[in-house]
Amino acid sequence: DRKISIAIDGPAGAGKSTIAKIISKKLGILYLDTGAMYRAVALKAINENIDTLDKEKLSKLVENIDIEIVYANDEQKIFLDGKDVSSLIRTPEVSIGASNVATIPDVRIKMVELQRKIASENSVVMDGRDIGSYVLPDAEVKIFLNADVRERAKRRYLEEKAKNTKDITFEEVLKDIEYRDKNDSSRSFAPLTKALDAIEVDTTNMSVDEVVNTILGHVKNYG
Ligand code: C5P
Repeated sequence: DRKISIAIDGPAGAGKSTIAKIISKKLGILYLDTGAMYRAVALKAINENIDTLDKEKLSKLVENIDIEIVYANDEQKIFLDGKDVSSLIRTPEVSIGASNVATIPDVRIKMVELQRKIASENSVVMDGRDIGSYVLPDAEVKIFLNADVRERAKRRYLEEKAKNTKDITFEEVLKDIEYRDKNDSSRSFAPLTKALDAIEVDTTNMSVDEVVNTILGHVKNYG
């Protein structure tokens, strides 16, 4: 039977992971959150007191990094050097660090290798920044999810508040997102961009169901 790859790209807070998880369940295929991989690299750098923009040190760091994606109870878990870091990577500090390490070509090459391997062995819905444009240029369905920056910041802010870990203001979340938008779009190697053949979906005023159904409509067209 035939494999399918669905690429979902877009900036932070556009709804990629929420939507990709639901699509993967509905279609019974794997979900891969590629951002988690860059977050794991950033976490390792932070733990080792390495500046997340230090090209040389990061290139060396990823030479022997052990990142494993494990699926348990329908959930993606990420292991860094044998330890489950799925929760530890969800902090504002790691978000910024991930955006920084993601500008370094050696880091990307290493992560993309793992991403392509998973896609070659499974039907997958993969979310990230460069999936349709670089990682899986032949993906059957490519979606570019976008939303107004304040709406995206609002969604992240509400998520952070629900987690109730540290107090963070809306303005801080907005600043983080603007920093990452700029960093992710302006890097020279595989930047955040809409692939020419991607379908853009603006989720600013859409419900989760509406976005899911829009995407499933395009999947149906294909298969
Ligand atoms: O998607 P998430 O917010 O978890 O991604 C964290 C960071 O990882 C992004 O800001 C981006 O810089 C980087 N990233 C990337 N390419 C991907 C996925 C994530 O550069 N495919």
